[in-house]
Amino acid sequence: MDFRLQMVKKRLGTIDKVLLVASGKGGVGKSVVAATLANHISGEKKVGLLDLDLHGPTLPLLLNHGGRLKGREDGIEPVVAGGVRLVSLGLLTSDKAMPLKGEVKRDLIIELFSEINWGRLNYLIVDLPPGTGDEALVAVRLTAEKASAILVSTPSPHSLGAVRRMSWLLAGEGAKIAGLVLNMAYMADSIGVKPFGSYDVEKVGEEVGVKVVAELPLEPEIASSTPINMGKLSEGFRKGLERIYEATRAL
Ligand SMILES: Nc1ncnc2c1ncn2[C@@H]1O[C@H](COP(=O)(O)OP(=O)(O)O)[C@@H](O)[C@H]1O
Ligand SMILES: [Mg+2]
Repeated sequence: MDFRLQMVKKRLGTIDKVLLVASGKGGVGKSVVAATLANHISGEKKVGLLDLDLHGPTLPLLLNHGGRLKGREDGIEPVVAGGVRLVSLGLLTSDKAMPLKGEVKRDLIIELFSEINWGRLNYLIVDLPPGTGDEALVAVRLTAEKASAILVSTPSPHSLGAVRRMSWLLAGEGAKIAGLVLNMAYMADSIGVKPFGSYDVEKVGEEVGVKVVAELPLEPEIASSTPINMGKLSEGFRKGLERIYEATRAL
């Protein structure tokens, strides 16, 4: 047996639940959902956040952390951003591009899961890049027994079609699906205005084959500035986060 897989198992032993934040397409708000959900849950629980968007890590920016990861004898030590323990390649490489592919990328993901010393966590939230590539596949295979997925999509037909394929892949790997989040579903400051047009929530859930657990508003504040200021999120956004949290507790 690969020694690293034994280490992965050991590391997961101190973690209750792994939430994989996934989508079919990029730019739909996975990182925003992962970061705000991590912050929201960290009010009550111990939360870790792993940025697996290896080519475009954005969580250090969203959570306002410019520090550096440190390797210690007992593994990689997450940094602490707000109440959240964070690991991102953005904390290693700053702005440099990472030429990663194939076997090297798969190895790196296994290393991250085997080397990071999260300590005791109730939730490990994993921010995935879009689609059905190595990151999603390796992450779901390594964490299968503890993993459930939160699917994120805008309410556009394009994005919903892609997230449906993503849900098939995850289900095929045996991952539980906590639900579908429709992001940027309406304008936070004028609720009737829907940037992607009107839709029937029930129908969207049926078409994708995954229940819609929350609709999050488009917040001008998030769109125009980083880091995310949790204190400035609208009530609708905070309620949406609470609904996602509830859906994950039920699993
Ligand atoms: N609910 C939202 N309100 C306003 N802007 C948002 C919202 N969700 C995402 N964005 C913006 O959309 C862009 C893509 O979001 P991001 O989380 O990086 O997507 P992904 O991780 O899926 O690629 C970012 O500029 C982000 O600030
Ligand atoms: Mg992202």
